[in-house]
Amino acid sequence: MTFQPKKLLVTGGAGFIGSNFIHYWQKHHPDHFIVNLDVMTYAGNLQNLAGLPHLSQYLFVEGDIRNGHLVEQLLRGHHIDTIVHFAAESHVDRSIAHPDVFVQTNVIGTYTLLEAARKVWLDEKKWTAADCRFHHISTDEVYGSLGLDDPAFTEVSQYQPNSPYSASKAGSDHLVRAYHHTFGLPTTLSNCSNNFGPRQHPEKLIPTIIRHCMQWSPIPVYGDGNNVRDWLYVEDHCEAIERILYQGVIGQAYNVGGKNEWSNLDLVELICNIFDRLHPQSKGYDSLISFVKDRPGHDYRYAINPEKISTELGWSVTHHFEDQLKNMILICLEEVDAI
Ligand SMILES: NC(=O)c1ccc[n+]([C@@H]2O[C@H](COP(=O)([O-])OP(=O)(O)OC[C@H]3O[C@@H](n4cnc5c(N)ncnc54)[C@H](O)[C@@H]3O)[C@@H](O)[C@H]2O)c1
Repeated sequence: MTFQPKKLLVTGGAGFIGSNFIHYWQKHHPDHFIVNLDVMTYAGNLQNLAGLPHLSQYLFVEGDIRNGHLVEQLLRGHHIDTIVHFAAESHVDRSIAHPDVFVQTNVIGTYTLLEAARKVWLDEKKWTAADCRFHHISTDEVYGSLGLDDPAFTEVSQYQPNSPYSASKAGSDHLVRAYHHTFGLPTTLSNCSNNFGPRQHPEKLIPTIIRHCMQWSPIPVYGDGNNVRDWLYVEDHCEAIERILYQGVIGQAYNVGGKNEWSNLDLVELICNIFDRLHPQSKGYDSLISFVKDRPGHDYRYAINPEKISTELGWSVTHHFEDQLKNMILICLEEVDAI
């Protein structure tokens, strides 16, 4: 018997992945009700939610996940059966400059949500664990850094977070696990690799590269550009979360990745190459590449082994990496042409 979500509390739904998830969910589950709880940090953007097709099934609430009273009210008032928890501080560079807000949001915020869910779903004894679900979105960065020839992270790889961002996400993952084991809260967890796609904040790597190509300005590349990341199109991530919600086993974690590793330099060169084809200039776009001082503690490589979600839940990537990059670049070029 699979779980059947109907009323969802999505946290951080005005950010990049959360807003894509809400668009995805409304397209595939138009009869489900969604409450989007977002405090609107610099990363939240209500324009990300423009064009939702089923507004009668959607409610935006501006508020903080650390406000337990508000979260309880939302859970009770809207008979929420499913929490999909995206809200976080998510940018590694910002976590180096201001670790405090990462601990507040990612650790205390997740703890507050878990407590509210425990109280409303379990302590008040109106729900059984089979009727509700808490899905926590996490990152591959909790596993630390790999060497070039190391095998990709699996769900049993040791947690070795290296940045205040990944350490705070690791803390939240441990709390989720503990609330399942100690209190029986029906949780699932996913650790995903780097996402890209529409509605991503301009400060992240792929939007930064595209912006600099569009502006014909130096493209900053950390260190020697050899750091390796796995890239996944955001809609593939949304589909993985959907599979986990419906078919995932309570208490389990699932690694989600694209088997699509790129060094930062190769990725920049790929994007430059697409620009050369779509919008040629007198010089190649790779002439814009500019190496800058490396990020402190920069993890060398992340790679995700998605075998478990693939064999147990039948998920796999359906979007082609280069095609999606090309679409994103075409949209930017068309927007400029339209001005
Ligand atoms: N972007 C990636 O490549 C990636 C990869 C793996 C995992 N993740 C995880 O996915 C989740 C979403 O990432 P994203 O890139 O969409 O992040 P994002 O930074 O674009 O969006 C985060 C959202 O959370 C909201 N928020 C922040 N603090 C809040 C609070 N205290 N209360 C309520 N809302 C708050 C922000 O306003 C924003 O809308 C995060 O948990 C992140 O760790 C991201």
